[in-house]
Amino acid sequence: ASSIDLAVIPGDGIGPEVIAEAVKVLEKAVAAEGVELKQTHYKLGAEHWLATGETLPDEVLADLRRRDAILFGAVGAAPGDTRIPSGIIEREMLLKLRFSLDHYVNLRPSKLYGTVGSPLANPGDIDFIVVREGTEGPYVGNGGTLRAGTPHEVATEVSLNTAHGVERVVRDAFRRASARERRHVTLVHKHNVLVFAGHLWKRTVEAVATEFPDVTHDYLHVDAATIFMVTDPSRFDVIVTDNLFGDILTDLAAAVTGGIGLAASGNINMDRTAPSMFEPVHGSAPDIAGQGKADPTAAILSAALLLDHLGYTAAARKIEAAVAADVEKRDGDARSTSAVGDAIAAEL
Ligand code: NAD
Ligand code: IPM
Ligand code: MN
Repeated sequence: ASSIDLAVIPGDGIGPEVIAEAVKVLEKAVAAEGVELKQTHYKLGAEHWLATGETLPDEVLADLRRRDAILFGAVGAAPGDTRIPSGIIEREMLLKLRFSLDHYVNLRPSKLYGTVGSPLANPGDIDFIVVREGTEGPYVGNGGTLRAGTPHEVATEVSLNTAHGVERVVRDAFRRASARERRHVTLVHKHNVLVFAGHLWKRTVEAVATEFPDVTHDYLHVDAATIFMVTDPSRFDVIVTDNLFGDILTDLAAAVTGGIGLAASGNINMDRTAPSMFEPVHGSAPDIAGQGKADPTAAILSAALLLDHLGYTAAARKIEAAVAADVEKRDGDARSTSAVGDAIAAEL
């Protein structure tokens, strides 16, 4: 195909700031390949909810479904902002998108470009991917509160894990591992305590592993995984894990590979029954919003993942190379958001 029908959801806080730079780089990268980029921008997020009361109307979801892919910034209010109840936008907009569009692979690569950015003394050669389940786990909203506000309040938040859901994401992790150099999968869970879901995940990994004789695998409890993420992150190749563990581990992974401003992600529907969505791992960062301080690199690398997913692999590799070239030169970076975007675009 020689055109991309792209949906852009800039969102709140630093979302629009970093997305402007990602679009800048994306436009240049695809133009060089002779590909036409058609963009439709959508106003959604906490600010939009305050102004209109809308989270994600059905017509908007239907419209998004027709696009080839979605580039997403970040949504969410500042933690202390009492005008917006916590969770409304996250649940009714962001998670609704991931669930409705069946983004079951939440792909979050971690790669250390040089050693400049890592807070670790001996980071080693970090290059792993986290395949985080994206449609199940404790994120499904299966819970409730009894006797709210009383001393006898009971709150539940039940983690949902289906054989179908676990199997498809585990198989995806093995497929990705078999295409990598080290061909190793690590299941991260907590089956010593979460015995029902944990055993389903463990059995599924054992079963799927038989289909991939060239891929090795091991297992870590999530608490131990956080130790190794800091003491020996280069041991990881492909991590497969549930929705919540994956959320937490990938912020940590971002921190050890140079910061949350570099961490990209894809919410991928591998069956291609709906568009996939690409977004930085970080949120709307209310503490630095509007100051031109946000690092747009994560959003730019997310655009590279988007191109990869649509089959424009050469363009994707060029963006990654441009980012690598820019990151290698960083040293106590004080450039503005747009200056970083311009520099990466210039490296293309
Ligand atoms: P956050 O990721 O927004 O910020 C955490 C810290 O990282 C802050 O100090 C912030 O300044 C810094 N940071 C984040 N992105 C950065 C960047 N590109 N460059 C430089 N520094 C950066 O997480 P939070 O503060 O826990 O959440 C803020 C809001 O964002 C909440 O409403 C939350 O629900 C939402 N959120 C949304 C998404 C998303 O849209 N995918 C992801 C995470 C959090
Ligand atoms: C992320 C975010 C989201 C998540 C929230 C905002 C729903 O933290 O994309 O990592 O937990 O998945
Ligand atoms: Mn997160």
